[in-house]
Amino acid sequence: MPEGRASRADARLQPLLRDLQGNILRGHGRERCALILLRFHCAPREARRWVSAFGGWVETAAVQFAGGNAYELPGAAPFWGFYLSAAGYRHLGVPQALQPADPAFQAGMRAAAQRLGDPSPDTWDADLQHELHAMVLLAHAEAPRLQQEQARLVASLDGIAHWSVEQGQAHQRKHRDGLLPAYRFVEHFGFADGRSQPLFFEEDLAEDLEGAAAHVHHDPSAPLSLVLAPDAAGGAQAFGSYLVWRKLEQDVRGFHRALRALAQTHPDARGDAARAGALMVGRYPDGSPLQPPGAADTGRPGEVNDFDFSGDAEGRHCPFSAHIRRINPRDGQGRDERIVRRGISYGTVPQTFDELAAAPLEALPEGGVGLQFMCFQSAIGMQFERLQQRANVQAEGDGPDAIAGTAAGGSLRWPAGPAGFQSFVTLKGGEYFHAPARSVLTRM
Ligand code: HEM
Repeated sequence: MPEGRASRADARLQPLLRDLQGNILRGHGRERCALILLRFHCAPREARRWVSAFGGWVETAAVQFAGGNAYELPGAAPFWGFYLSAAGYRHLGVPQALQPADPAFQAGMRAAAQRLGDPSPDTWDADLQHELHAMVLLAHAEAPRLQQEQARLVASLDGIAHWSVEQGQAHQRKHRDGLLPAYRFVEHFGFADGRSQPLFFEEDLAEDLEGAAAHVHHDPSAPLSLVLAPDAAGGAQAFGSYLVWRKLEQDVRGFHRALRALAQTHPDARGDAARAGALMVGRYPDGSPLQPPGAADTGRPGEVNDFDFSGDAEGRHCPFSAHIRRINPRDGQGRDERIVRRGISYGTVPQTFDELAAAPLEALPEGGVGLQFMCFQSAIGMQFERLQQRANVQAEGDGPDAIAGTAAGGSLRWPAGPAGFQSFVTLKGGEYFHAPARSVLTRM
C-alpha cells in the first residue's frame, strides 16, 4: 500500500481502488440509506454462492471516485456496500487463516461491552439481540428508488437469509444563504455534524483548506493504513476495512430539557441553551468550536476545523468532557486512534437547533430517533474501542464524554463549577463487521 500523501489519480493506487469497497475513503454522500441486516439460514455453500453473486453489485472506491457527485442527479445508481461479521465468516465456512484477524472483530461487539464500560447487551432492542452475519448498505437520495432497490435485494434473499432493516436519513443543515457544503449535516440534538474527519488524498485536503494556505493547528491528513488492512482472503492488492455499527438512540427531549435548565442555573451557560450545548459538544450548533477568543478565526465560523486546544490547557474554554475534546484531544498523541465516521441519523425531528430550542418539550421525542453510528478503521481495538472507552470513563473529576458516553451519569467539570450530567444516548444494538475486497466477495 503506497504511504505518504497521494492523489486519488495516483497510478500506483488504481489496482487497490478497483478492488476496495466505496464509502471507506470518502463518504458515499447519499442522504438516505437502508441497513439490511442478514442472518443466513441456508447451507454455507448456498450462502457463499449468494455472496459471490451479490459481490458484483458492490460499488468500488474507483467507481465511486469516477462518479464524483453524479449520485445527486435524478436517476443516479444506488450505492451498495457489503460487510461480514465474524459469525458471518464462520457460517460461510471461510478458513480461519483467511478471516480478518483483528481480535476485537473476532470476538464481536457483544463481548466488548464490559471492556468498553457499555451497558449490558441484554438491554439492547429485542430485535437486535440475535446473531448477525452480514450487513448490506444500500443508499440513494430518493426514497422511492431506495424502496425499489431494497425490494430487489430482499427478493434475492428468499431461502437464503432472515433479514431486517434499519433506516438512515441525513438532514442537510439549512443556512440563511442557502445550503452549506455536502458534509454539513445536522444531527438530532441540533448540531452540525460530519465536519472533522481524517483525510486521505491531496484533493480532500485541498477542499478542506477552504481557501487557506495550509493547515496550521490541526493536520487532518492520514495514511491509508489508518483505515485499510490487507484482506487475507485476496491477492496482494486486496484491502479491507473494519466497520463498527452502533444504533444510538437520542433522547432529544431530555437533552434539551437539560440544556434549558443549565441555561438558567449554570453561570458558564450565560442564560443561553445553545452555549450550554456547546459546552457539551465542544462546538456551537453551527459548528463553531469553543476556543480562546481570536484563535483560528476564518470568518466562516461553522466551518472552522484548523484549531487545537493548546491555548486552553485547563479547560477554561472547552471542557475536557466536551465530546470533540474527549474523543479527539488534538494533542498529536491520538493520531493513530482516529476513525473515519460514516454514520447517519434515523427518524425525524425539527432540523435546526433554534427550532428544537423553541419547541415545547413535549413535542420533542424521548426515543425512536438517533444515530446509526458507523465508523471505519484498520484495527477496532486500537481505534473505535480506545475512543469509546475514553468516552465512557469518569475521567479525573471531568466526567464522561457528554455526548458519546453511554455510562449512566455523573458530573461534568465546567469552568465555573460542576454541571450535572445524565447520558441522553442509549445503545440499542450493533456489531463489528469487515468490508472485504470486492474480489474476495465475488470469488467466495
Ligand atoms: C464529532 C455528534 C457519537 C466520534 C462530533 C460532532 C458532533 C457529534 C456534533 C462535531 C462535528 C464534527 O466534527 O463532525 C455525535 C452524536 C453522537 C456521537 C450526537 C451520538 C448520538 C460518537 C461516538 C464516537 C464519536 C460514539 C466514537 C466513539 C466523533 C469524532 C468526532 C466527532 C471522532 C470528531 C472530533 C474531532 O476531530 O474534532 N460528533 N457524536 N461520536 N464524533 Fe461524535
